[in-house]
Amino acid sequence: MADDLKTLPTDHVSHEEPMGRATFTAFTNATPEDWQKIVAANSVFAKSHVDRIVTHLNLLKGDCGGFPIDRLEHSLQTATRAFKAGMDEEYVVCALIHDIGDSLGVFNHPDIAAAILKPFVSEKNLWMVQNHGIFQGYYFWDHIGLDKNARDQFHGHPAFEYTAQFCHLYDQPAFDSAYESMPLDAFIPMMHRVMDRPKQSMYLKKSGESVMNGE
Ligand SMILES: [Fe+2]
Ligand SMILES: [Fe+2]
Repeated sequence: MADDLKTLPTDHVSHEEPMGRATFTAFTNATPEDWQKIVAANSVFAKSHVDRIVTHLNLLKGDCGGFPIDRLEHSLQTATRAFKAGMDEEYVVCALIHDIGDSLGVFNHPDIAAAILKPFVSEKNLWMVQNHGIFQGYYFWDHIGLDKNARDQFHGHPAFEYTAQFCHLYDQPAFDSAYESMPLDAFIPMMHRVMDRPKQSMYLKKSGESVMNGE
């Protein structure tokens, strides 16, 4: 385990409570005023969402897991390759985040990235991120005792080729220690444009306003 994975930094935690704190002891005795305080604090907290994702991406730095390059460099390289190929920002952000779950979701890492991206991306991009692990298996699972053709179970799915292309063009070749990736900072404005406001979320009102964004 990389040293910086042993302790989680806490400077990404927002303590801003513009209206102070609620005083209830259980949800059943909370007042509308209590909830206004919580919504106010959360709308500040939501503004640093991208910062927290960047913090977690940085946790992948120095963590190689036997691969030729660390997991952050692999993420940057995948995103850089997609960006340079002219893919749109939503796709590039998916490429950047696709392995963010490597540390928390050892047995299902694509699900972590998919859960983070779900409010912000198209169904096709979400499916691609969620299933990239099985599609990436096409390139190596025969070496580790698994079925490299496991992706075939998805033949006929509208995002099959799309996901196969992601792995072929951007994910599987992104282990080149000589490749010059763009720095993480270059992707942060893209992350803000893609992730600052959800397209779908249980916290969207019927009118489309986002409670978590203070709307
Ligand atoms: Fe992956
Ligand atoms: Fe990957």
